[in-house]
Parts: sequence; structure tokens; C-alpha cells
Amino acid sequence: MINYTEKIPNNVDLGRDRVLQRALEHWQPAYMGWWYDMGPNESHDYDVYLRTAISVEPDGWAQFGYVKMPEYRWGIFLQPRDEKREVNFGIHRGQAAWQEVPGEYRSTLRRVIVTQGDTEPASVEQQRMLGASWPSMYDLRNIFQVNVEEGRHLWAMVYLLHRYFGRDGREEAESLLARRSGDADNPRILGAFNEPTPDWLAFYMFTFFTDRDGKFQLCALAESGFDPLARTCRFMLTEEAHHMFVGETGVGRIIQRTCEVMKEHQVEDPSDVRALGVIDLPTIQRYLSVHYSVTLDLYGSDVSSNAANYFTSGLKGRFRETKLDDDHVLTDAEYPVSEVTGGKIITKNVPALTALNERLRDDYIEEIADGVGRWQRIIDNAGVRFRLTLPHKGFHRAIGNFAGHFISPDGEALSQEAWKNHESEWLPNSKDYAYVQSLMSGRVVEPGKFANWIAPPARGINNQPLNFEYVRFN
Ligand SMILES: [Fe+2]
Ligand SMILES: [Fe+2]
Repeated sequence: MINYTEKIPNNVDLGRDRVLQRALEHWQPAYMGWWYDMGPNESHDYDVYLRTAISVEPDGWAQFGYVKMPEYRWGIFLQPRDEKREVNFGIHRGQAAWQEVPGEYRSTLRRVIVTQGDTEPASVEQQRMLGASWPSMYDLRNIFQVNVEEGRHLWAMVYLLHRYFGRDGREEAESLLARRSGDADNPRILGAFNEPTPDWLAFYMFTFFTDRDGKFQLCALAESGFDPLARTCRFMLTEEAHHMFVGETGVGRIIQRTCEVMKEHQVEDPSDVRALGVIDLPTIQRYLSVHYSVTLDLYGSDVSSNAANYFTSGLKGRFRETKLDDDHVLTDAEYPVSEVTGGKIITKNVPALTALNERLRDDYIEEIADGVGRWQRIIDNAGVRFRLTLPHKGFHRAIGNFAGHFISPDGEALSQEAWKNHESEWLPNSKDYAYVQSLMSGRVVEPGKFANWIAPPARGINNQPLNFEYVRFN
């Protein structure tokens, strides 16, 4: 169970380590300062129907109730320790899992934790203006839930930095509150976390695509030989699932509403669809393409010696490492990687150890494709003729073997000029953004009401009805 009587709720017996407790209590007001500055805009007085973790057991960890977001009980929750756990891959395979940081991996591990930690406040910053207008109370509550949990994920990483990395860790924890998404001088570490999230369609795409990158990174870190990191990430994954649910159902509801209106009015042309106040399917496709491609870059270079080192040293595993049936060392294994040579995309085998970024990206793509298939079924079931497609993995990439090349959504290597001629068909253009944002200026404050461009969800949160008062505005 989690101890909520302390200033910082936790299940790590924080009170036993006074120095650590004081250091975190010192960081806490700085965190609150960041939340007031960069958390959801204008919402500090709202009572929001939020879930809070009360136990790390798989059943019944959540408690629902009205909370003002600045009073949310951010804390430190790790999955319980398994005394028998071992390092399950790399050259240390078979050793007892590490309870302290191995000296030789200290700086690498710190960088891994800081990079993960940096994404958490970044997404809150990216989404902060979306609380200024919203399609329903239900949706507003969901974005706030995502935001407070990303704040908690920052706490999770900051705990590890404070507890295991001494002074350097404390300095990194301060820097995590100092960087700002999109800031020219002090940006967030990874590209996708410096892109704006300008509207609710972008938010749902982000939580479907980019929070799912979070899931895959957390899954890889949950395999870590450094046991406290593994246990932290396991618990974060239970929270992440809701974020991806919000994204998938959010986009799905927008698609559903568009299809309903298209059928009802017998229109197909995007301008006719827009005239009816819903988002045309080609625009949804363009949003999908940009969020997908930008998120694929987060996995890093296709061939990476860093990725090999992380694995070999037991710091970061593969997706579902312990379920994979091989030697978990990969010295002789190979893995296919694509590159562009002489205007053609070719695939060749490289040492599997160096291709672990690409492998994680491929695992991610498989799951993404399933989700897009579920969106397609909404379109098919409505009897609308339109195909949503995932662009080729080389499309619009800025990192890895495809960077600097101009790959069409079908996977053809084009000249820069040919690509540019199609850019506004393939990626959201300024008119798309202006149109989508024009739909989203309102605040739907009546319980059970939804903006015209999005269908209601199938059910409410925590078995509450759709017309439940998910947010009280005071
Ligand atoms: Fe997160
Ligand atoms: Fe998330």
C-alpha cells in the first residue's frame, strides 16, 4: 500500500532515509512552481474527477474523486521487489538484479533516466493550452488525467535520480524543470517533444502515437538489470495504458462522427464535409502521417552502437525480453535494416545488437498497425469508402538511414522537388491546421454534451454516466 500520510506519498519507505526525503521535499516546491507555470492553463481551481493510485497491486490501484490539480498527490510508487529477479540479458545475464547502480554504468544509466524523464513534463507543456477550449467535460477530464500522470512520471524519474545518483542526480532533477518544450535556448531533449500540440486532434494523435513510444521505451527499461528502474517503469506502464486509450478512442470518435455526417448528408468531397463542421478524412490521414513519422524518429538511429551497449551491459532490454526465445546475448544474431542506396530502398542484415533501435521501432509499428486497423473498421462499418494507411517507415524521417531522403508514403525514393510538390497532400498544411482549430474554439460546459466534430464515447469513466459532471469549474 501507498503511504499517503507523508508529505510525499510513497511505497519506498521514504521516511527511513531522511537525507533523501529532505532533498525531495526541497525539489517539491520547485515542481509545484513548474506546474503553476507550465501545467494546464487556467485550471487550478477546477475540481476534476481524477483517479489516484492507492496501491501498486494490479487490482484496485485506483481511487476516483474530485481533486484540484495542484492538490493531486504526486508520489513515488514502485512495483514490489522480486527477491529472485536476475539480469535477464547481455553479458551479466544470470547475475542477481542490481539494487544499486554499477559504477561503470553510472553515467549511461543517468542519461537513459534523464532522457525518459524529460519527455514527461515536455508533454504537459505541449498540451497546456488545450484546457482553454474543449469538446466535452469528459474529454477535458481525460486530458487533465493524462497531465497529472505525466507529472507523476516525472516524479518517478526524479526519485531515481535523487536516490541513486547523488549530487549529479539532483542537478539533473533541477534541469528537468528548467528545460521547456519548443524553447529556442533550452529545449526538451527529443525532437517530437518540442513540436506544438495545437488542437485536440493533435492531442489524440499524440497520445495514440507518442505515448505509445513511451510505452515501448518503458517496456524496454522495465527489463533493465537495474532493478529500481525496472520496478518504476512497470508501474508507470499501468498509467500509460489509459493515455493510449484516450488517444485511440479520441481519434476513433472523430472518425466516427465524420462518417456519420458523411452518410447522413451523402457527401464525400472534403470541402463539403468541412462545410458540415466535421474533420474530413484526408485531413485525419495527414495528421496520422505526421504524428507517426515524427514519433518513429524517437527510436533513434537504425544502426546504433549506443543501443548495442545499453543491451550488452544489461541496462535496456528488448520489448518483452524475457518472453523471447533466444540466447538474450545476440552476439551472432542478425537483423534486417533498410537504407537508401542509388535512389532505391534496400534491406540488408546487420548485427542484431546494433539494430535494437530498429527492432523496437518495428515492434511499435506492429502495434500501431493494429490500432489503425481498428480505426479503419469504424470507417468500413459506416459504409464510407476511404482507406487510412500508415505511410512507409522512411516517410518524412529526420533521424536514421532515411534522414535526408525524400520517401513517398508508398515507399518510393523521390527527388526533393517531386516530394515538395506533394507535401501539402501528405502532411497537414496551414489550411488544415486553421480549419481544425476553427472548430475547437468553444468550451462545452454542459454535462453529457459533445462538440459537433466528435462522437460521444461508448461509456463514461469509472462506470459513471456520460452526463456525469467530470469537471466542476467553480
Ligand atoms: Fe509518461
Ligand atoms: Fe503518457
